[in-house]
Amino acid sequence: MTNKTFYIETYGCQMNFADSEIVNSILLEEGMKPVHDAESADVVLVNTCSIRENAETKVWNRLKELRSIKKENGELTVGVLGCMAERIKDRIIEQEHLVDIVVGPDAYRDIPNLLQEVDDGRKAVNVLLSLEETYADIAPVRTTGNGVNAFVSIMRGCDNMCAFCVVPFTRGRERSRPMGSILKEIKQLSDEGYKEVTLLGQNVNSYLDGETTFTKLMDEASKVDPEIRFRFSSPHPKDFPDDLLHLIAERPNLCNYIHIPAQAGSDTMLERMRRPYTREGYLELIDNMKAIIPGVSLSTDIIAGFCDETEEEHQQTLTLMAEVEYDLAYMFAYSERERTLAARKFEDNVPEETKKRRLSEIITQQREIQERRNKEEVGRRHLVLVESTSKKSDAQLSGRTDTNKMVVFDRKDFKPGDYVEVEVKETTSATLIADPIRKTTLSEYYGAEVVA
Ligand code: SAH
Ligand code: SF4
Ligand code: F3S
Repeated sequence: MTNKTFYIETYGCQMNFADSEIVNSILLEEGMKPVHDAESADVVLVNTCSIRENAETKVWNRLKELRSIKKENGELTVGVLGCMAERIKDRIIEQEHLVDIVVGPDAYRDIPNLLQEVDDGRKAVNVLLSLEETYADIAPVRTTGNGVNAFVSIMRGCDNMCAFCVVPFTRGRERSRPMGSILKEIKQLSDEGYKEVTLLGQNVNSYLDGETTFTKLMDEASKVDPEIRFRFSSPHPKDFPDDLLHLIAERPNLCNYIHIPAQAGSDTMLERMRRPYTREGYLELIDNMKAIIPGVSLSTDIIAGFCDETEEEHQQTLTLMAEVEYDLAYMFAYSERERTLAARKFEDNVPEETKKRRLSEIITQQREIQERRNKEEVGRRHLVLVESTSKKSDAQLSGRTDTNKMVVFDRKDFKPGDYVEVEVKETTSATLIADPIRKTTLSEYYGAEVVA
């Protein structure tokens, strides 16, 4: 394999991006060299997503483009990694003649062998799922990031089996990575100057390593470096004990921002989706979060047009969202996925037009809520971690508040990785525009008892 060049393209969620960094590390270890585009690579690996139909369509289109590059460069090896690999291995290899290797999310250590098989003239597939694999000992190589934010995988897979969701089938059973290896990786990131770490898992707050709960892990992680800010994604409403909320409230470097996917607002729909909570239970949890963590910022995931959804159920989703007042929401039209409970037992019977109309009502309401909530920010001060140059202007920087709001302000002498106190001047539904006041540190800003 040595001397060959490679290029990895990533689709889908943050877990996939984190996995690509693990694959990157495995290939570098083999002596392979990274390049910056598919055209100049000997091996192109596409890390794929299956969550909705349009996610897969995007990948199929890209694979067809790669096939035309392959026609010009007969030596090019194309591989499919990630969640689609698991689901459509036969179709990918036999019918489409698009790709040479297919590797599921638990088989990345096998990539060097699989590439060797391709060199020997065979197609190569490994989509075995594992009960243990967490890649705990592989240090991800972060080549595409900004040196400020890093993702750390702490668990893999999901056992929840929500009726609509393909993830349990593509990523297999839930398993947690040992705490020691997680803390070691965070220490390494601290030494390299990273300022924000997002702990990742499909069901991140169900983390359990022997006696070690998610709360304990957050407690230990936050003590590694008081100047590193921590976030986590994605949690499930079923695992939010009070001790976790109190810890977030007390620790200055645990962000006051929680993503808490509701999916829907009515008991009947939640039941059909196999989400194990009621509207009332969910709203109680939200009240509890707001009470324990003053000023907490909340975001959610919502699905419009799931099987048998009535107008009344749709209205209940809208009223739930209006009641909670999320600062951010990821909103989707339901897309049926093979193998899921919904695909096997229910009918995907909400007409496409109705799905679209309901989704757009949800989006419109959410935009109004965000605009209103952002307006309330004018005049407030925030601690912003600078991430990069603003997309719109080189003279400006962008970063996020503790509450995960995007902020843009004049560059002056500040740079990515700085903590800057700002005062909000103007807002849109998506961004706060601010005046920078001074550079500071996280511990100083919160007048913090340093926790380490
Ligand atoms: N593990 C995460 C979710 C991962 S998928 C969690 O439980 O929060 C991200 C979001 O995609 C889900 O929360 C859901 O809102 C949406 N989603 C999942 N399957 C979907 C489907 N079949 N159609 C439309 N949206 C879907
Ligand atoms: Fe999918 Fe539900 Fe698991 Fe999230 S918790 S990954 S929505 S099955
Ligand atoms: Fe997509 Fe797989 Fe993530 S289906 S959302 S890449 S877990």
